[in-house]
Amino acid sequence: MSLDKLLDEVRARPLPRHVALIMDGNGRWAKRKGLARAEGHRQGALAAERLIRFLGKERLVPYITLFAFSTENWSRPREEIEFLFRLLEGFIREKLRELAEAGVRLRLLGDPRPLPARLRAAIEEAVAATVGNDALHLTVALNFGGRWAILEGVRRALSQGISPDKLEEESFRRLLPSGELPEPDLIIRTGGHLRLSNFFLWEAAYAELYFTPILWPDFDERAFLEAIRDFQGRTRNFGRVVP
Ligand code: FPP
Repeated sequence: MSLDKLLDEVRARPLPRHVALIMDGNGRWAKRKGLARAEGHRQGALAAERLIRFLGKERLVPYITLFAFSTENWSRPREEIEFLFRLLEGFIREKLRELAEAGVRLRLLGDPRPLPARLRAAIEEAVAATVGNDALHLTVALNFGGRWAILEGVRRALSQGISPDKLEEESFRRLLPSGELPEPDLIIRTGGHLRLSNFFLWEAAYAELYFTPILWPDFDERAFLEAIRDFQGRTRNFGRVVP
C-alpha cells in the first residue's frame, strides 16, 4: 500500500493523542553494517528528525515523547555518552529554527542537573524559544527513568506538605515530571525487546504497547503509521467491561 493510502486510512479512525517511543537498536543496526556504534546513533538521530518532520507536517498526533537517554545509560562507555550528548546538542542547535517555525514545542523530561552545561544551555534555549508553539509537543526524555519520576512526584508531594489522605491518583499524576502531558495512549518500542526498561511506569498504566523488531535507524514514516494502525485495531477498555 502506498504511504498516502496508509495515511488516509489512519486518518479516518481515532488517533492517539500522545505517542511515546523507546528508540532502541542503534548499536545493533551499526554492528550489522560493520559500522561503529556512533554511526548507529547518528542514523538514529536522523530517524528521529524524519519522524518529527513528518508529524510536524501531517499533524497526526499532537504529543510525542522520545526516550533518548535513560538513568541507566550512564553505565555506557564514557566516549559513547559524550558522543550522544554532543549529537543531541548539535541536533537541538541546528534544528531549533526549523522546529520553531514548524510550530513544535520542545520539552525536556528528566533530571537536567548531571547533563553537560552546553547541552543544558541548548535545551533551555530551545524550550524557551518554542514555549508558545502547539502544533506538535515534542518531549525529549533525557536522563529520565520511570522510577526516578515516581520518586520525584513523591518528593514534590512531601515538600508541598500534602497529607496522605489528600494524595489521590489524579493530583499525584500532575505532580509527576510528566504532569503537564496527557498520558501516553501508545508506547512504541523498536529493536525487538519486550520490556519498558524503566521508561514511563505510572504513565503506562493504560497505554497500548507496540513492539517491533525494526531497529530504530530503520523506523520510518510507514513503520510509524503501521504502529498507529495496529493501535486503532485494539479495544481499549481501561479496566471496564466493554459491551
Ligand atoms: C538505543 O540504541 C538508543 C539510544 C541510547 C538513544 C539514542 C537516541 C538517538 C541517537 C536519537 C536521537 C534523538 C533525538 C531527539 C534527536 P542502543 O545503543 O541501545 O542500541 P542496541 O540495543 O542495539 O545496542
